[in-house]
Amino acid sequence: GRTLGDLAARHDLAIGTAVDPAALTDPRYRSIASTEFTSVTAENAMKWEVTEPVRGTYDWSAAERFMAFAERNDQKVRGHVLVWNNQLPAWLTEGVASGAIDRAELRGILKKHVQDTVRHFKGRVWQWDVVNEAVTDSYDAVDGRIGYKGFWAEQLGPGYVADAFRWAREADPKALLFYNDYNIDAFGDGGPLDKTAFVYRMVKRLRENGVPIDGVGSQAHLSTRYGNYSAFQIADTLERFAGLGVATALTEVDVRNLLPAEATSDALNPLLQAQAFDYSALLTGCLTSRHCISYTVWGFDDNHSWTNTWDFGSGPGREALAAIYDTGYQPKPAYRALQADLAYS
Ligand code: G3I
Repeated sequence: GRTLGDLAARHDLAIGTAVDPAALTDPRYRSIASTEFTSVTAENAMKWEVTEPVRGTYDWSAAERFMAFAERNDQKVRGHVLVWNNQLPAWLTEGVASGAIDRAELRGILKKHVQDTVRHFKGRVWQWDVVNEAVTDSYDAVDGRIGYKGFWAEQLGPGYVADAFRWAREADPKALLFYNDYNIDAFGDGGPLDKTAFVYRMVKRLRENGVPIDGVGSQAHLSTRYGNYSAFQIADTLERFAGLGVATALTEVDVRNLLPAEATSDALNPLLQAQAFDYSALLTGCLTSRHCISYTVWGFDDNHSWTNTWDFGSGPGREALAAIYDTGYQPKPAYRALQADLAYS
């Protein structure tokens, strides 16, 4: 075949997509999801608010629908996500806010969540996003420097990161354990606002301390509205992380376009080319770095992209339509660019 997944196989690269199990009832969605990709990630179905909506009562139904699809299609699974500041169950955040759950209990709750989840899927998950988005960006940095952010760092201190990897390893020694984040596509000046450098130093310290971290996932949520990265920059970043002894992966690739108010197809054309350029630079960067093991798009069609409903802040238009297939499930220039990169490199 000539699907992206088939073309990537000879590079030893998995091509993945995020999957919304509810969308699998649409035969067009289902057919592309099952044929083009050799890896899948649950877009929301494995998140804590979904799997444990009531304390002590697990609901794996959506996650299991997703897993059944992956297994039927012989696709490798990226588990997403064990520890994140978002999409936490209300019983947890409210319990902490009211003081009903104290720190010692909270740490035990987190350990149980990590280990119950990893054990539940033991042997069926290739890569786990163990800790996701733990640090600030340059735009929300406190006191002019990147640091740890959000619920878990505030409640437990940054040591939760190392704990989470140790707990996950105990529960499934064979799964590859990843730290996953966005805006770590390229190194900056190495200063206090360089997020990529901060994450690099964090991973370096974790490795030096014997913490079982096997990989770094660069989400790569890009927008053609901001500067582009070259394939060289992407490869350089991935190689520097690989120098720490970890695998890398591009885990949530998409490229938004700032749509003109009147989005005629003529106005869209250069945007589609710019988008294809970014998708291609990321893929070429990954192919260039031998330790980059998977390239996953965060949804493959413009009907289901999270960017359509997300508010990206002020601007003259709307940033959306970030996927490689259009709303009619036709391949966009970005799809053709990926296909060509895989076929001819
Ligand atoms: O399921 C409920 C539904 O019952 C309710 O009626 C509806 C009304 O708002 O919301 C539905 O939940 C939404 C959920 O997606 C499922 O569609 C949430 O509101 C919405 O916030 C949620 O968005 C997800 C987002 O994470 C939230 O954190 C996106 O689908 C998902 O693509 C996105 O994924 C994240 C990665 O996990 C981590 N990296 C960034 C990436 C993009 O934000």
